[in-house]
Amino acid sequence: MNVLGIESSCDECSVAVVADGKKILSNVVATQIPLHQPYMGVVPEIASRTHVEWIKGVVHNALETAGCTIKDIDGIAVTAKPGLAGSLLVGLSYAKALSYATDIPYIGINHIYGHIHAAHIEYDIQYPYVALLVSGGHTLIAIMENYDKMQIMGTTIDDACGEAFDKIAKFYGWGYPGGVVIDRMAQKGDPDAFSFPDPSLHKGEHKYDVSYSGLKTAVINQLHQFQNSGYEATPENIAASFQKTAIDMLIRRLKKAAKDAGLNTVVTGGGVAANSYLRKALSELKGMKVYIPSMKLCGDNGAMIAGLGYHFLKDGMTSDLSLTIMSKVMAFHRSYPR
Ligand code: KG4
Ligand code: ZN
Repeated sequence: MNVLGIESSCDECSVAVVADGKKILSNVVATQIPLHQPYMGVVPEIASRTHVEWIKGVVHNALETAGCTIKDIDGIAVTAKPGLAGSLLVGLSYAKALSYATDIPYIGINHIYGHIHAAHIEYDIQYPYVALLVSGGHTLIAIMENYDKMQIMGTTIDDACGEAFDKIAKFYGWGYPGGVVIDRMAQKGDPDAFSFPDPSLHKGEHKYDVSYSGLKTAVINQLHQFQNSGYEATPENIAASFQKTAIDMLIRRLKKAAKDAGLNTVVTGGGVAANSYLRKALSELKGMKVYIPSMKLCGDNGAMIAGLGYHFLKDGMTSDLSLTIMSKVMAFHRSYPR
């Protein structure tokens, strides 16, 4: 079954063709980063207008690269939530129109589940497991029971992990997107130059939660308080120390969550899963099976949407033309333990 996956929830206009949920025939990612770079962040109006201009060409490109025509496509999967409203609308409207015109069934996909599913394209992974989803909009530690069923153990109580990277890089004028820039700078810095505190949220329902707002304030406004003697406050040292604190916090919660849930399989996904420090820390987890998607499947991409869409379509689930986008997904509250 060939599934065409369309992803337009933010600033990447991406379309893929994936066979049987496993074989990536094409995965075209047309990035808008250069258009948003001057503003050091995504400008929603520019993002949606650019998707309108690009989507048809990106779909054609993905089909051509896969060596097929629309006649070879058995199903269409499209991100329907969450994300920027205008951007989501472009992808969903295109998918609906294509489905209506060709009679190919389509399914609306939750972007968060798509990120978590990315590793399944490359590896055979058994449920249940603990997922670590880290992106620019979300930070979740959750038990995945199936491809469409999650129990959230922990989340962020304020900023998302990638958002903290982006805001700090923006404040210091280091560049955009912040995660990529900080990761690169951190390679030349000393992670022990600053000892930023880990917010203590280890009580009750918050025990698997993280918080990035306090860390961001410390990195931006209270640097001197946390500087270790003998170290210079160079951008590289600031970047390395922030990155270590931000990621170590996640790893500690993840280990606790997996232990408490009695699970030893961990799957990660999302833009921040491209972070070199996080990838190393995850790969060094002892006694756990860890699945990390390759770099091209971490950031927003059509392949993860096609890969997950395949399972819904195979199980006979489709969306009808009344489906609409949802910018925010309210269901992301803690649901563990039930
Ligand atoms: O998943 P994604 O492409 O879009 C959302 O769904 O949000 O994630 C984008 C986020 C941005 O915050 C970006 O700075 C971050 O992922 N990111 C990284 C790295 N590459 C991208 N964060 C840390 N290290 C990286 N290497
Ligand atoms: Zn994403």
